[in-house]
Amino acid sequence: MDLIKKVAGYLTSSRDVVALTGAGISVESGIPPFRGKGGVWERFDPMEYASIQAFEKDPAKVWRVLLSELKKVVDRAEPNNAHKGLAKLEKIGILKTIITQNVDGLHQKAGNTDVIEFHGNFAWHRCMNCDHRTDTQSLMLDQIPPTCDCGGIFRPECVFFGEMIPPEAMWRSRHVASNCDIMLVVGTSANVEPAAYMPVLAKKSGAKIIEINTETTPLTGHISDHILLGRAGEIMDILITEVKNLSQLEPAID
Ligand code: OAD
Repeated sequence: MDLIKKVAGYLTSSRDVVALTGAGISVESGIPPFRGKGGVWERFDPMEYASIQAFEKDPAKVWRVLLSELKKVVDRAEPNNAHKGLAKLEKIGILKTIITQNVDGLHQKAGNTDVIEFHGNFAWHRCMNCDHRTDTQSLMLDQIPPTCDCGGIFRPECVFFGEMIPPEAMWRSRHVASNCDIMLVVGTSANVEPAAYMPVLAKKSGAKIIEINTETTPLTGHISDHILLGRAGEIMDILITEVKNLSQLEPAID
């Protein structure tokens, strides 16, 4: 509790806060994480189902096993208190930008306006033949893989293993990480590069790094200054209450 108060104090006296988020922030919205207990990669080998080579070799297999399940889960997911908390922090002028590794669009749905989608998004699909785009909710799965009127196969606009990070996401992330004074690192195992490098870059540039996670990560104790251990939604609720108390902005924050 004392640590949460201390972090709330850092936030209210900061000038530029950035958040880096990962799958853990969406767990309380019903989206499973990738690693650890119940994680997607416990059931599927990422190289067999989430690499661009696997998709190009057998798109029907990747659609049947991984993407159709992801679509079902993402189509019905709603932001939880952790997403909503970050939206409140933006609304009161504390949080500037979110760099997210997630493709579920829940930060935007919660109300954040500056979200860098480091691994692309699952909100849109693109025909691999003619580049026609369609929003994922309207994509029909009566035929697997789903195809465009031109006969081409639809792929999500997210980054498969073996693909480049979208260049704009990369340079903007580096820029905001190098210029923030606090980075909140929420629900990421910090195992996947280059996203995991962003807290390192922020630290090198003088920022404080605060993790929120149910367990420690490779950043803990080396790169991060503090870790708030617990479920992101629950921690964020308490943190927002403390920020409210300190900034006495109750009407604006609700
Ligand atoms: P991971 O699945 O690797 O890590 C999820 C993290 O969230 C872990 O550190 C958990 O301890 C933590 N966690 C779980 N539940 C939580 C909760 N309720 N509150 C807070 N923390 C919680 O997910 P990422 O780090 O996002 O890439 O994975 C990075 C990338 O690896 C993904 O973007 C994806 C994946 O392979 C691609 O698909 C390219």
